[in-house]
Amino acid sequence: MSTATRGGARVARAGRCSGRRARASGRARRSGATKAGEDDALRGTLDAVAVATLRALGGVARDVAGNANVKPARFPRGPREDVALELVYDPLKFLERAREAHGDAVGLTLAGENVVLVSSPALARAVLVDRSECFQKDGTAFFPGSSLAGNGLLVSDGETWARQRRLSNPAFRKAAVETYARCMIEVGERLVNKTWSRRGRRDVYADFNDATLEIVASALFGADVVGARASKINGAIKDSFEFFGRRAATGMIIPEWAPTFDNVRYNDAVKRLDEEVYSIIAKRRRAMASGEQNNELDLLDRLLLEKDENEGDGNDATGMSDKALRDELMTLMVAGQETSAILLSWACALIAERPYVGDKIATEVRQHLKTKENAGSSLDASDFSKLPYTEACILETLRIRPPAYMVGRCAARDVELRSDVFITKGTTVLIAPYLIQRDSQYWNDPKAFKPERWLVKSPYSEGTLARDALKNLGPNDAYFPFGGGPRVCIGTGFAMMESVLLLALICNACELRLPPGSSAPKPKALITLRPDEIKLDVGPRPRSVF
Ligand code: HEM
Repeated sequence: MSTATRGGARVARAGRCSGRRARASGRARRSGATKAGEDDALRGTLDAVAVATLRALGGVARDVAGNANVKPARFPRGPREDVALELVYDPLKFLERAREAHGDAVGLTLAGENVVLVSSPALARAVLVDRSECFQKDGTAFFPGSSLAGNGLLVSDGETWARQRRLSNPAFRKAAVETYARCMIEVGERLVNKTWSRRGRRDVYADFNDATLEIVASALFGADVVGARASKINGAIKDSFEFFGRRAATGMIIPEWAPTFDNVRYNDAVKRLDEEVYSIIAKRRRAMASGEQNNELDLLDRLLLEKDENEGDGNDATGMSDKALRDELMTLMVAGQETSAILLSWACALIAERPYVGDKIATEVRQHLKTKENAGSSLDASDFSKLPYTEACILETLRIRPPAYMVGRCAARDVELRSDVFITKGTTVLIAPYLIQRDSQYWNDPKAFKPERWLVKSPYSEGTLARDALKNLGPNDAYFPFGGGPRVCIGTGFAMMESVLLLALICNACELRLPPGSSAPKPKALITLRPDEIKLDVGPRPRSVF
């Protein structure tokens, strides 16, 4: 099936589940094309932008039981007017104002659709954990659906999702993630020893995008990403990611089948990538059939090895089909690259504003390295849990700058979340970790960057709060940068290992500073909480300064 057809199929699929979404975008398209007046054309464009952005944020325009003119009974209070444009123009300010004015459950009309924004730990728990069976993701992933990611874990639902998750989980267990640490360290060392070895100004967001792409591609395909194939794969991945970057930067989502210059280039990149990925899958299957196996398993090997025992019934357990494997590999790449680049960029920006934090990380790393048996060696996977201050800096970055600042769900049936919050089937619910993780009811001095807050004794266990940070929905159910419940991020351990090791390597080798006269970078909320760019002055850290 060609890429273009697959893109078309996705649209058809979305259309089936989201009749009103299709009608809403159709309305927007028609109004631009057929109405003559400039106002109508402008309105059509604004509608299209709003609908597209909202789809990206939470799959808002969908097959709701009612519509925004007909508010369901017990629909939470909220602004009377349609607030789509307000949300599009400044999502963070909008979220804060909506909660301030209407509380922790706000009924909204967004691009003609009913949406409920929730921002308290109890309501977040109800949606993500306690009543999770009443909600689905269809079209609500915080990454918009795409022909690149196909029907992978991020967007699938029901038994398709459950099976894929069962088959994918082992590839993300602790022991498996530790095997990917080597490539994380190699990439990190290259970054600090080559790219950042001389004093100068760097766009660290761009550098981290390259680094995390290399890490995730190497974790997925290991030794197969070398030579000509590596340049072909990396070129195609870069082309498609640049497309996502542009799409995220504008917030505008034109359907992937539309023959725009950007789409043609993107679809060609997906096609090139598909050719390579299917050929690697075929090669690995042949190798496995003939008993050959790599010594060090990469993610693809692990996914290929898994069989679904649940299928039982006397049949042989089966693994993933080529198409399912391809969708999963691409999903992992899409889901695992940008979020990690954003996290590391914010961590470095926050540290550049506070050089003493970088000094403390460097001290921690150097002291730890001295205790290693093999003195003079670099970091490895086992060091991840021995750098508590570095880890606390990552946890704190995720608290105040969560890359996934909002997650969305669609009610698969009517559900009462609280006596005053009744959600009718088809309504989109937006959950805002950004608000909850910065709420003074649950956090002291919530807007300050204080890594130390994670190093106090935990009220939940014997260890520090950091040890419990990523269990369930975190302290007071008020910390879930990786989501929660059954759909919690499968790459949590991967992302934590990657970001802690890279930050440790960076602060050990480099000093980071804001360029003189420049102010701290501001977050730009679109699909993720990404920076536009983060330019920092980077240079080698003296070997002994302490
Ligand atoms: C800082 C890095 C990351 C952040 C902040 C992050 C955040 C999240 C969040 C919030 C969700 C849940 C979305 C929802 O409930 O709708 C999620 C899901 C997911 N993430 Fe991550 N993620 C990160 C890194 C990664 C990595 C490294 C991978 C893989 C290599 C990954 C793969 C996935 C997948 C496959 C899902 C869907 C899981 C499912 O629905 O079963 N993520 N992520």
